[in-house]
Parts: sequence; structure tokens; C-alpha cells
Amino acid sequence: MTTIIAKAAAVGGGVIGAGWVARLLLNGIDVAIFDPDPEARRKVGEVMKGARRAYKQMLPGGLPKEGRLTFARTIAEAVADADFIQESVPERLDLKHKVLAEIDMHAPANAIIGSSTSGIKPTDMQVAMKKHPERLVVGHPFNPVYLLPIVEIVGGEQTFPEAIEVAKEIYASIGMKPVVIRKEIEAFVGDRLLEAAWREALWLIKDGICSVEELDDIMRYGFGLRWAQMGMFQVYRVAGGEAGMRHFMAQFGPCLKWPWTKLMDVPEFNDELVDLIASQSDDQSGKWSIRELEKIRDDNLVAIMEALSKQNKGKGWGAGAIHKAYTKQLGDLASKKKPAASKAAVKAKAAKPVKKAVAKTKKKVAAKKKG
Ligand SMILES: NC(=O)c1ccc[n+]([C@@H]2O[C@H](COP(=O)([O-])OP(=O)(O)OC[C@H]3O[C@@H](n4cnc5c(N)ncnc54)[C@H](O)[C@@H]3O)[C@@H](O)[C@H]2O)c1
Repeated sequence: MTTIIAKAAAVGGGVIGAGWVARLLLNGIDVAIFDPDPEARRKVGEVMKGARRAYKQMLPGGLPKEGRLTFARTIAEAVADADFIQESVPERLDLKHKVLAEIDMHAPANAIIGSSTSGIKPTDMQVAMKKHPERLVVGHPFNPVYLLPIVEIVGGEQTFPEAIEVAKEIYASIGMKPVVIRKEIEAFVGDRLLEAAWREALWLIKDGICSVEELDDIMRYGFGLRWAQMGMFQVYRVAGGEAGMRHFMAQFGPCLKWPWTKLMDVPEFNDELVDLIASQSDDQSGKWSIRELEKIRDDNLVAIMEALSKQNKGKGWGAGAIHKAYTKQLGDLASKKKPAASKAAVKAKAAKPVKKAVAKTKKKVAAKKKG
């Protein structure tokens, strides 16, 4: 898969927006960004530095020529000639409405719009888009966006299936693993799981069962390692012994009724709880700055993916398989062995289904007016 984005735009350049910018630029794609924060240029620069450092470890033979980054003065200017736009503004519905309406107003009709939202349903966001709501998808990444391959794709009531197909191609073309969520729900799949685990973790610390550090150790020395390479169900299948998943279900199913979790019962979110967690976190990690921790995290993630890329008789396993294909794609791009397909040609290919989708909506709207 080669890059199929001719020109991208990023609206919002914080932790996540800057991560998208880094992934796109490092794939040789030009990006225009709009972020009203006067510090945005510096913050995006910091994330770029970290991303370059990580990619240098993945590609000792050299990185592809980076895309060009421009800072736009308005959303209109940023999205004017983009064929892919990723929105990453703070998680507030009113702000998402305002920003998506503006993007929709000024973006080319065949551009795909992805939202980074962690949990808002696309149906609730696309009501604000008056021109082409059918090309909005949620493209929910995980931090750091430039390293972790997963992106959850969610369509809303007005999203055309063709837009989801094009979005899948777009995200895959920049080394990601798109998973389309079958039914639209708040928080999708990843954040549903994370929130349940986080709620339980807050209880365990509040009740004095363990410290922040002990909880992290139980995860990272144990099941966290298993999850990174097989996920939940494949691991449990193995845990069932030779009889596999059915035996596992029979053995542990009844525990679901035991008082093992507090589930929806949320601890009161007050200053006392925040102080308890934050001070224990300081004890655990205060000796490193956030930037140092980012470097440690990135180095570890690259090392894990590199190790997994050598498994499965050299074909790679899980995230390692994607990592292997992605580093090859970037290596080829760097050595110009396989020049990226003619940008105009691929742009036309990517735009075709969306153009068809847009034409279909126009017909529907016209028919409605007649009726
Ligand atoms: N932080 C995470 O781990 C994470 C993971 C996945 C998804 N997300 C989602 O990504 C989105 C952004 O989150 P974040 O963590 O990067 O937040 P952030 O606060 O780090 O960044 C938000 C950025 O948006 C900018 N902004 C504010 N108003 C704007 C506007 N009108 N136009 C353009 N830019 C504007 C801010 O200046 C800021 O730089 C949210 O929807 C969040 O739920 C976050």
C-alpha cells in the first residue's frame, strides 16, 4: 500500500493532532495545520522531534523525505485543498460542532473528514455539517499516533459506506490497522475497555488495596505483556488448556457473578481522590520529566514491535506484522525504489467513491424536496 493522500489538513495540534501531523509528515505527505494556540508551533515541533527519533530507530537506513508543514491562519485556509482532514480539537460536543461545520463548509466536496474523538458518536457530530455529512467518520487513534497502528473507524447515521471504505484505505496507506466498529456506540471499543479498567483501578487504590506503582507492576510484569501480543480472547483460549475456550468459559464464567468487580459503581471524583492518585504517581514516576517518559515509552514500543515483527517464521505477529510492512514501505519510499504512485492518479481513485456518494445524497435531497 502506498500513500494515497495528496495533501492533508490537521485541525487541532495538541497531543493527538500533533501525533497525526508527525505520522503524515514522516510518510512524505504535506500537511496544513490550524490551531489557535500561540504555542502550537513549538508543541508540534516537540512531538515531531520525538517522532523522528523513534522512526530513526525503525529505519536505520534513513527516513523518507518529510512532507511540508504549513501553519494556516484559519480552518478555511488549512482545509482548502486537502483530500484528507483529521479533526483533533478538545472533547466538547459544542466545539466539535463548530469546528466540523467550518471544515465542511470549506473543504473540497470529495475530501474525507476523520474525527479523533475518544467517545462522541459520529451521528451526534455530523448534524452540524450542512454540506456533506456523509464523508465524516470517526478515526479514533491511540497515543502516540505516530507509533501505535490501531485506528477505530466508526460511521454515523449519515455516513456513506463508501466513505468508510475510502477512510480504511487512507489510514492503511499510512501504516495503520483500521478496524471498523460494527455498531455506533459512545466510546467505541477501546475506550469502553479502558474506562472499565480505569474505574476498577481507581477503586483499588482508593480502598488501599494497592498503590499506583503496584497496580502498574501487576499489569506490566504480567497480563499486559500477554495482551500486547495476543489480546484478551486468544490469551484466554490458551488459558483454557487443551480444551480451549469452552473450558475457560466453564471454569471462570461463574466468577462473573461473584463480587470481583465494582463495575458501574464509580468512586466519588473529588480532590481527595485526585491527590491520592497524583501523589502516588509522583512517587512512582516523578524522577522523570514527561518528555523523558515519552522517550522511554517510544523506545519500548519500537522494541516490542520490532521483536514481534521477527515472530511467526519471520512474517511477523500481530502489531509486528504491520510494523514489518510499514517499515518496508517507508524504507522503499526513502530509497525511492518504488516511487509513490502518481499522487494525482491515486487522489482521483480515492475521491471516486466519495464523489459517487455525494452524487447519491444530492439525488436523495432533490427527491425529498420534490416529494
Ligand atoms: N489524549 C489522548 O490520549 C487521546 C487519545 C485518542 C483520542 N483523543 C481525542 O483527540 C482529541 C484531541 O485530544 P488531545 O488529547 O490532543 O487534546 P489537547 O488538549 O492536547 O489538544 C487540543 C488542541 O486543540 C486546539 N484547539 C482548541 N480549539 C480549537 C479550534 N477551534 N480549532 C483548532 N484547534 C483548536 C487546542 O489549542 C489544542 O492544541 C479529543 O477529541 C480527544 O478525545 C485523545
